[in-house]
Amino acid sequence: MRPKPIEINRLIETGRLSNLSPIALISEKLGIRWLMIFDEYIYGPTPGIVEALDLLLTKLRPRTVLDLFAGSGALSKLALLRGVKHVRCVEKYAEALKLNLGGLRRVEVIEGDAMDFLGEGKYDMVVIDPPEELIDQLLKRVDEIREMFKLAALLWLGSWRDAGPRIKSLKGKRMTSVIEAWGDALAILWKRSCREKIKIVERALR
Ligand SMILES: C[S@@+](CC[C@H](N)C(=O)[O-])C[C@H]1O[C@@H](n2cnc3c(N)ncnc32)[C@H](O)[C@@H]1O
Repeated sequence: MRPKPIEINRLIETGRLSNLSPIALISEKLGIRWLMIFDEYIYGPTPGIVEALDLLLTKLRPRTVLDLFAGSGALSKLALLRGVKHVRCVEKYAEALKLNLGGLRRVEVIEGDAMDFLGEGKYDMVVIDPPEELIDQLLKRVDEIREMFKLAALLWLGSWRDAGPRIKSLKGKRMTSVIEAWGDALAILWKRSCREKIKIVERALR
């Protein structure tokens, strides 16, 4: 079945989502009202990547951000709230994204395949929150991702419990940190000029 947008309030009213779930709380805080529903599964903002991104935005102060696999647009909205001047977000099923972010200034919504954007363009920061099944393909293209940012990139590696082989594949790579946040594994790729600030972010997440 093709995914469709659904209001978070509707999910809460019908008992499919607790209003105290991290997705509901983060969405409310960021002013995100719509999510996409895939059969019975919903994607939305999760606490690990939200907190890590927030710390990076606050410390690195990027002016431009690319949000790949943008989903609801919550991460893009966070970037806007933290003062980013231009956010480009890419999502294959973009109805909820358009409902949440359509009409906002400083944001460009692109409906399309995020994989086509790898290695394209230059942004201060790139955030990549893919579906589980694309993580290994993305890790094979990590050198292309490194070409796309001036400060840092943040990439979701899956749940910490299952991410062992993925973390191993990044071992020994320069200017690469792997952190655990709220049960998730995240990779931060960074430029030398950001070293001290990345260390502060790593300490904050410990
Ligand atoms: C983990 S969710 C992202 C959640 C998002 N960060 C949020 O805050 O709502 C992954 C997203 O990737 C999208 N997706 C899957 N394959 C894609 C592709 N090839 N290109 C773009 N988006 C894709 C899914 O529709 C889903 O919204």
